[in-house]
Amino acid sequence: MTTHYPLSEIPPDIVCADDYERHAREALPHSTYEHIASGSGDEITLRGNRDAFQQVQILPRMLRRFDRASAQLSLFGDRYASPMVVAPLAYQQLAHPEGELATAAAADALDCGFVCSTLASCSLERVASAGRSPKWFQLYFQASRANTLALVRRAEQAGYRAIVVTVDSSVTGIRNRSQRAGFALPDNVQAANLRELAPPPPRPLKQDESIILNGIMADAPDWDELAWLRSQTALPLIVKGIIHPEDARQALLLGADGLVVSNHGGRSLDGCPASLRMLPLIRRTVDAFAASHPHRTAATVLLDSGIRRGSDVFKALALGADAVLLGRPCFYALSVAGALGVAHLLRTLKEEFELTLALSGCQTPADISRDAVIIPRDFS
Ligand code: FNR
Repeated sequence: MTTHYPLSEIPPDIVCADDYERHAREALPHSTYEHIASGSGDEITLRGNRDAFQQVQILPRMLRRFDRASAQLSLFGDRYASPMVVAPLAYQQLAHPEGELATAAAADALDCGFVCSTLASCSLERVASAGRSPKWFQLYFQASRANTLALVRRAEQAGYRAIVVTVDSSVTGIRNRSQRAGFALPDNVQAANLRELAPPPPRPLKQDESIILNGIMADAPDWDELAWLRSQTALPLIVKGIIHPEDARQALLLGADGLVVSNHGGRSLDGCPASLRMLPLIRRTVDAFAASHPHRTAATVLLDSGIRRGSDVFKALALGADAVLLGRPCFYALSVAGALGVAHLLRTLKEEFELTLALSGCQTPADISRDAVIIPRDFS
């Protein structure tokens, strides 16, 4: 693997998230870039995610007062500078030698939320100590409950403030672009959190059995596993990878405190709808659940997949999200300029979001109502 050192200064032609992608394409080995950028299959969902944001229009109001304006908000009892959280992204040492430590330090500097992946290339304990800002741990169910629980306990012990359990990737989507480029994880980049966990014994398959359907999926988690996980931790539990409103309801019934409406940035099932398109219906489902369960704290709705601008954050909030997760742009910024790049990206997106608030006549994230946008009829 070629090592790409961070630039000591941000190139002057990087002024928005997409500029980081352009530079990352140059900075990274081709196969690594393709691994990060690609979606699954024909990338219909990957493109659909961007498309959806472009179809929503912002309807600005003029001459509004700005005497209590702020982009800040609280999530699960913690205060953040804006409704943006760095998404869980595996193996960040692919992009930079400091990996997750650099990204977490940048999020900390900007008072931005940060989610550490199960598949982080730096241990969750080291990531937790990168700055003091609250962080969440993203959990992939492991082959045994003992191993899953070991990760949860380590996350609790290290001070993570929430568990984000990802449910849309029991089997990894097939990313043809990444395959064509011959991407393989280099030996020096590993899943640091899984080093000490005993690997599961291989499941013997009969001759006519499928590796995917009978091998991987036979051991894949189901709703009982989610109920079990809920019973094991007092931390807020956020279920990531929800696209169907019935799944949203089921997760809430089992005690989830939050949802991430997400299609994994178009990397899992190709052909599923953009998460933004499903957001209005899922928001209505969450609101209906809250109305019929007044004793429960209302669940938090997060959204990811396709956010590239502060105005996209605004649109997601107008369609029902409380906050959003940022995926690939953070990876690109990390590869171009390390922690400095990620901090610059987060600041740029926050300024874009603030500008959108200002020009649309909204003082705070809570002021962004559905009336602030025009939504195409074919959205949910
Ligand atoms: C991801 N994503 C992801 N999600 C997760 O729950 N655990 C993980 O380890 C990873 N790893 C990962 C690696 C890479 C290279 C990418 C691009 C994505 C998905 C991620 O959290 C998020 O859902 C999407 O990236 C959001 O879409 P955008 O912002 O990339 O369009």
